[in-house]
Amino acid sequence: MTIKAVRGTRDLLPPDTALWNFVEETARDVFRAYNFQEIRTPIFESTELFARGVGEETDIVSKEMYTWEDRSRKSPLSDAPYEAAAEVLGKGQSLTLRPEATAGIVRAYIEHNLGQRGLSKLYLIGPMFRRERPQKGRYRQFYQIDAEIIGPPGSGSDSPVRDAEVIEMLATLLDRLGIKGWNLQLNSVGCANDRAKFNEALRQALEPVVGQMCADCQRRAVTNPLRVFDCKVPADQPIIEKLPRISHFLDEPCREHFDEVQNILAKIGIQFSLNDRLVRGLDYYTRTAFEFTHGALGAQNAILGGGRYDGLSEALGGPSAPGIGFAIGEDRLVMSLPESAESVQKKPDVYVAPLGAGMNCEAAGLARELRRQNLVVDLGDENFRLKKSFEAATRAGAKYILIVGENEVKADSFALKNLATGEQISVPRGELTQKIRA
Ligand code: HAM
Repeated sequence: MTIKAVRGTRDLLPPDTALWNFVEETARDVFRAYNFQEIRTPIFESTELFARGVGEETDIVSKEMYTWEDRSRKSPLSDAPYEAAAEVLGKGQSLTLRPEATAGIVRAYIEHNLGQRGLSKLYLIGPMFRRERPQKGRYRQFYQIDAEIIGPPGSGSDSPVRDAEVIEMLATLLDRLGIKGWNLQLNSVGCANDRAKFNEALRQALEPVVGQMCADCQRRAVTNPLRVFDCKVPADQPIIEKLPRISHFLDEPCREHFDEVQNILAKIGIQFSLNDRLVRGLDYYTRTAFEFTHGALGAQNAILGGGRYDGLSEALGGPSAPGIGFAIGEDRLVMSLPESAESVQKKPDVYVAPLGAGMNCEAAGLARELRRQNLVVDLGDENFRLKKSFEAATRAGAKYILIVGENEVKADSFALKNLATGEQISVPRGELTQKIRA
């Protein structure tokens, strides 16, 4: 039996990878214009980071993480080698493949004292892992383009200006990628105080009805009622629809913050709709929460999600460091692109075809010269006949084919044929780059 890629993972193949590169290059360009810099964190972290950061009661942490016990290292609680420590503790360190990037970035922010620099604008592009039921637009290894603004009190990282800035940056990126028809949904989930009151109200509202709900909701109603809003079970939706909403529980500073975010967005022409059911599936959120959806995506229609997390650094044992950010689901973003892979793919400018014995060296030298002039060059083999060279050049999508035969080498002038028009001219070596580029 042949071995296949694991369910929920996939190979990204050419020409589609050209679209992924197009998206990532455009994102890097846009982020640079807003003064973001790249951060790369490890793909696995200690399990505790996500348990404390994302939240034990979230679907991500309670059901979807790829977690294992690392038996190869010393126990974190002892200097003794694992084998000795294991006798005392019974286990090694619990590690997890990152299901999202924010917790790792905030961990790095704390670990490297990035707060000393004032405002940190960071972005990360890479794979994330969640054990979800695979379907179109939902994978177990998927890619996120994540950006965060974090900073110590006084750096302005808590300002509504930052919320509007990241949202406007996203609108700019989607526009630059040619993605039309997206929808921005906005909510405020308030601060810890607001949520304590909200959770209490939810608990009371759930009490008489929770018996009719799914097992997950029955558990959530006790441990973390807000998470009831994550429920996807159709039969539970009419009950959830009637529950109190966070918008009625915002205190004055949270209300003002949210008003100002909306005010700036409206003034700079970013359209949004308010959705007070939007609580996002991660526990670290405070105040602004948002999602961009796209109609063409079907059931998994969220291209990206984000929000503010003013208490996350403290929850991870760090200093106060309010922050806001987002993660784009790159798989879904690529699916909603109007561009085809062919249109963004860089095709060879020229296919160099050695014809006849001894021509490989000549052709390799010529290809090297042209590549040094930044041309995209594909190279044939002297064993190919003319017909096979033409077929290979056409398959590669080359603009020109350049014939390197004995006569051409003697004359130091080469037959250059435009594969689209069929026009063929003889071009002296020194003029090749210029002719091909023209
Ligand atoms: P999230 O909503 O869990 O937020 O994920 C962000 C985006 O990742 C989703 O909108 C979706 O496009 C994509 N995504 C999530 N799961 C999958 C999957 N199984 N397959 C394909 N795409 C998926 C976060 O991860 C937060 N860390 C975002 C954030 C950053 N908040 C503040 N800063």
